[in-house]
Amino acid sequence: MPSADVAHVWEAVPQAPADPIFQLTASFRADSFPQKVNLGVGAYRDDNGKPWVLPSIKAAKKVLLEDESIDHEYLSITGLNDFTLSAAKLILGKDSKAILEGRVSSVQTISGTGANHLGAVFLSKFYRFPAKKEIYLSNPTWANHKAIFNLAGINPTDYPYYNPQTIALDFEGFTGSLQSAPNGSAFLLHACAHNPTGVDPTKEQWSKIADIFGQKGHFAFFDCAYQGFASGDLDGDAWAVRHFVERRDIPVLVCQSFAKNAGLYGERIGALHVVSPTKEQNAAVFSQLSVIQRGEISNPPAFGARLVTMLLTDERLWKQWQEDVKTMSYRIIDMRKALYAALNDKLHTPPPKGAKDWSHILKQIGMFTFTGLNPAQCKKMVETHHIYMTGNGRISMAGISSKNVEYVAKSIDDVIRTL
Ligand SMILES: Cc1ncc(COP(=O)(O)O)c(C=O)c1O
Repeated sequence: MPSADVAHVWEAVPQAPADPIFQLTASFRADSFPQKVNLGVGAYRDDNGKPWVLPSIKAAKKVLLEDESIDHEYLSITGLNDFTLSAAKLILGKDSKAILEGRVSSVQTISGTGANHLGAVFLSKFYRFPAKKEIYLSNPTWANHKAIFNLAGINPTDYPYYNPQTIALDFEGFTGSLQSAPNGSAFLLHACAHNPTGVDPTKEQWSKIADIFGQKGHFAFFDCAYQGFASGDLDGDAWAVRHFVERRDIPVLVCQSFAKNAGLYGERIGALHVVSPTKEQNAAVFSQLSVIQRGEISNPPAFGARLVTMLLTDERLWKQWQEDVKTMSYRIIDMRKALYAALNDKLHTPPPKGAKDWSHILKQIGMFTFTGLNPAQCKKMVETHHIYMTGNGRISMAGISSKNVEYVAKSIDDVIRTL
């Protein structure tokens, strides 16, 4: 190549915008205001606003470090077998027929993002899409979903999910979209604690949704990043996934993350579970998932897989982990109550447009609340009050503590009254 070309080789590469959530965290870190609050990132914080290493994880790490038999050899391509099997039981149920009948292909992935990616690539290669390669995503959804499916060559399209007029689920819009989509369409479903709205269907609504999936032959692509965070009950939060799988008339896959519920964000531990109608199809599916995984990462990392396996298989650690999940989800529920009380009972803050009161803070589920603040109000929260949040009105309840809840409420009160 002539030297002139070397000097210009990347000239046509356009500058990509920074990731909004990580950008927000960077701005938060750079801010010297003492009362600053980060409500942007979806990561659990304790009541002092600090990251929390779960006691169950601390105990598991101790055992692991003292175990002389542990080496640093490669795991198999599809990951640690004890991990993938116990992770499958966690989401599908310990007595899951699909597991007992050998119809589940479980592969260890690079956290939930990796599970979504592997599932997307698998679908892109092997799913018989009705017309074009397209997946329906809830409007709104986790921002990364679009990027993940685009990268896998599947076009993301929207289905109605959240109604800003009522600050609640748009059930008619959602089911209408399921009905009007071509038979056999792929729909992504948040298993529980919907990100970003905190709005989940009720069990009755899930059953109706599943009926339409069955009638229309749609594919259910479940994303489960918050098992345990919705209710504090790991089994309870898996209800929708188990309901779909147990019916047997809906093709299902599940992406699972242990970032949030085990506090293992940086260890990148998750799994993809593809449920097949027969053992024979399952064997072929597993072989193809292995081929994709080999080409992409060869083998997944061992540390997080070993820790989670211990939580799921050691009786003492399992009990402790269940307590830890409750500690996190109950603290968030307490913060919902505290924020609601401060706005509603103390400050008598007028509700945001579309809401009768602030009760949506109490009703919404999991890590996030969709406050109903408009983009200008969100901007003022950041620029005037140093409370970092996304422009769509989403706040991470995990960033609120007994120490900052009054300040957050007063700031919301100010932006509501002035804009
Ligand atoms: C809906 C949803 N899916 C998947 C993920 C993946 O997270 P991770 O890759 O850290 O497990 C997240 C994280 O925020 C999420 O909110």
